[in-house]
Amino acid sequence: MLFKLTDEQVMIQNMVREFSRKVIAPTAAERDKTKAFPSDNLEQMGELGLMGMMVPEEFGGEAADAVSYVLALSEIAYSCASTAVVMSVQNSIVCESLSKFGTKEQKQEFLVPLASGEIIGAFALTEPDAGSDPVTQSTTAVKDGDDYVINGTKRFITSGENSAVVLVTAKTDETKGHKGISCFIVPKTTPGLIVGHHEDKMGLRASDTTDLIFENCRVPAANILSKEGDGFKIAMSGLDSGRIGIAAQSIGVAQAAFDAALKYARKRKQFGVAITKHQGIRFQIADMATKIEAARQLILSAASMKDRGEKFTREASMAKLFASEMVQEVTAWAIQMHGGYGFTKDYPVERFYRDARVFTIYEGTSEIQRIVISNAMLKDKRK
Ligand code: CAA
Repeated sequence: MLFKLTDEQVMIQNMVREFSRKVIAPTAAERDKTKAFPSDNLEQMGELGLMGMMVPEEFGGEAADAVSYVLALSEIAYSCASTAVVMSVQNSIVCESLSKFGTKEQKQEFLVPLASGEIIGAFALTEPDAGSDPVTQSTTAVKDGDDYVINGTKRFITSGENSAVVLVTAKTDETKGHKGISCFIVPKTTPGLIVGHHEDKMGLRASDTTDLIFENCRVPAANILSKEGDGFKIAMSGLDSGRIGIAAQSIGVAQAAFDAALKYARKRKQFGVAITKHQGIRFQIADMATKIEAARQLILSAASMKDRGEKFTREASMAKLFASEMVQEVTAWAIQMHGGYGFTKDYPVERFYRDARVFTIYEGTSEIQRIVISNAMLKDKRK
């Protein structure tokens, strides 16, 4: 093993595993059906310190390292990918951006309740016509006295309905490209901030994804995160961490699909023997286990680079690319190993397959990860 987890990391992993399988797993299939937001689970996760894991203790967080965070997130995703994406956005993009770029006052007001899990946060970058290329966004924020007035529509916002605070990017200077984008902290109670269309999704059905509409939404200038023009960098740096989170989510779902497939294959008999005696199944088991482990090593490597304070943009993209593609294969194979039963709702693998589908899309598509990785490789003059 390239990686040896510390005793503390193993303790966190075990604690979250036990909680996840006892508390979260039993209701996951039902939530998938009813689309019920897991508020009760998230509240308990807040009490366990899972909603602001890497936030410094002085702002109510656990000051945990990124390795512990990805281990915990994978364990939550193992039971319920919908709950995991809420945890991921909260920890990786929302809390981290506030921790890194917020003023002391902003941290007291917003980070403290986020880190404790008392409130949920959302991150609003994507727009109807600006997904992979967020520089072309058209939401604007115009300075008016001591306020900014925000207008525009954000799309596919995780926890759009259930969040209490949103970090939103908007153009403060149309002429400056990415340097004209700023980031604002907007409480959901702000007049002019309206929750729009709710997506009816293929997977992650217990996590709400909505439009957020800003109509002359007025926020105090004190709610700008960092300074005018820093919004794109804040988003990109938050997405570095977010991408490790989505990779961890992929591992959790892949492991759950693998374990379910193994359990089924051990019991299922065809041609007079357990199907695990057939080479076709054994080879699939070997390939699934190997790919999951390869993804795990990439994630742990990216997370530990982050913990060492090194630049980890390329490694986060590599982990996200590989893990999110891997889980497509692993969940498909898990269904294949179940045969016709895998195509029914009697077994969890069909939910895993649907949930995993978005992992190669959100927080940067696989194609975007390849752009980030190839840009980094081409910049490296030693190669
Ligand atoms: N950290 C900090 N700064 C960064 C950065 C990073 N990782 N990556 C780029 N930057 C900076 C650059 O240094 C540059 O700044 P300077 O000009 O000062 O040097 C600036 O940002 C622009 O960089 P690029 O020229 O590389 O930017 P680009 O316009 O070519 O775009 C991109 C790069 C990688 C394609 C980027 O647009 C991207 O990541 N697109 C995908 C967006 C995305 O992931 N959206 C997901 C939405 S969020 C979501 O899904 C949330 C959810 O709810 C689950």
